[in-house]
Amino acid sequence: MCSSRVVSKWEKALAKLEDQSEERTAEPVGTPDPVDAASVNIFSAEFAACPQPTYANLREKCPVSRSAIGGGPILAKHEDVVWALRQPEIFSSKMDMQLAMGTERPMIPQQIDPPEQTRYRRILDPRFSRKRMLEIEDDVRKSARDLMDQFASDGSCDFGEAFAIPLPCTAFLHLMGLPQEDLGLFLHLKDSIIRPQEQEQEGMAVQQIRADAGRGIYEYFERAIDARAGQSKDDMLGFLMTAEIEGERLTREEILDISFLLLLAGLDTVTATLGCNITYLAENPEARRRLVENEGLIPGAIEELLRWETPVMVVPRVLTQDVTVSGVDLREGELVSLLLGSSNIDPSAFDDPELVDFERDRNIHVAFGAGPHRCLGSHLARMELRVAMEEWHRRIPDYEIQPGETPRFSPGIREARYLPLVWSV
Ligand code: HEM
Repeated sequence: MCSSRVVSKWEKALAKLEDQSEERTAEPVGTPDPVDAASVNIFSAEFAACPQPTYANLREKCPVSRSAIGGGPILAKHEDVVWALRQPEIFSSKMDMQLAMGTERPMIPQQIDPPEQTRYRRILDPRFSRKRMLEIEDDVRKSARDLMDQFASDGSCDFGEAFAIPLPCTAFLHLMGLPQEDLGLFLHLKDSIIRPQEQEQEGMAVQQIRADAGRGIYEYFERAIDARAGQSKDDMLGFLMTAEIEGERLTREEILDISFLLLLAGLDTVTATLGCNITYLAENPEARRRLVENEGLIPGAIEELLRWETPVMVVPRVLTQDVTVSGVDLREGELVSLLLGSSNIDPSAFDDPELVDFERDRNIHVAFGAGPHRCLGSHLARMELRVAMEEWHRRIPDYEIQPGETPRFSPGIREARYLPLVWSV
């Protein structure tokens, strides 16, 4: 059985947090006290670096807390989070105004609620099936090998820049049937939306950078659709251009709003997961050796690391009515954060949750969400992750984080923004 007891980093951090929370907590342990956790900033880089101890602390001491930024409620218990995800009429995803991502309309299907959302999922789900995603596996594998050709003999790389950032983008281009030469353009557009503050454009406001990039994305897909007129192609864009709902073709705006979302939802999530996985395996050489010796463990390792690391830490919802959760009253209109990462290590849902076990039975993690908005691209993600993990470990089985360096993670989606690796050549 592959199991590695959780690193002492977690235990130390938990002890530290417990000391701090004793000083902070006004109410006895176990009493829901929204004020108690106000100093926990779940959107900070420190939290993203090692969130598991804080998850445990929130769940045990303050299962419904309030965000240090904006004051919105944060749900930490598995039961509450899954319940909320399954009540879209109370916990709505209609947040295109609150969470503007350079879009002119809501992204489909993420920013709309059932029953309208269900109509789209009905046609999209079969197209994103496991079987259909295997059709592009060879292309993704070739892209992974081509990328590794560029740095494997160097003995070092920044994992994100060299591999984890470009690979999901090449997969997206294969999926959509778009030219691989557009890789650089796509990475730039998506970064301008997700991290506008990191784009070097002096004097330009963040919202302006986002809006310009958003327009760039719409225009790119407009041109791609025009170039396809009259052709039928068996790729995702070709599918969207001919797909019908109740006998009606999707409109051009619907095609754009789905394509926009696929670009935003499918790149950083896979990049982040790869970074979390490789960081874990670099820090746990025994677990890594077991994977290298037995590739068959990789799918189980991917699921277990999705659970333990939960790269998409949190998903937002807006309340359509007042509601009481774990004894705490929440108000209509509040922006709620649902902590997927905390749910995934909740002892009420998982045996021995702090044990990282690549052969865990019934791993019903919520790293892909739950309920009607559960990740549309989970089969694509799993294929990309499997191919990447296989190719990486075949070529570079023994690696470590550059001595003296510490990986840095972004909050929200836990992407390793700095992950310098070294290996022998
Ligand atoms: C390991 C990688 C990934 C993770 C961890 C992940 C995680 C998630 C999560 C947590 C949600 C639920 C959001 C919510 O409830 O508000 C979601 C939704 C979604 N994901 Fe993923 N995702 C991944 C990869 C992908 C990929 C590769 C694609 C496609 C290109 C994709 C497309 C989508 C879409 C379209 C939705 C919205 C579904 C809806 O609202 O009906 N994801 N994902």
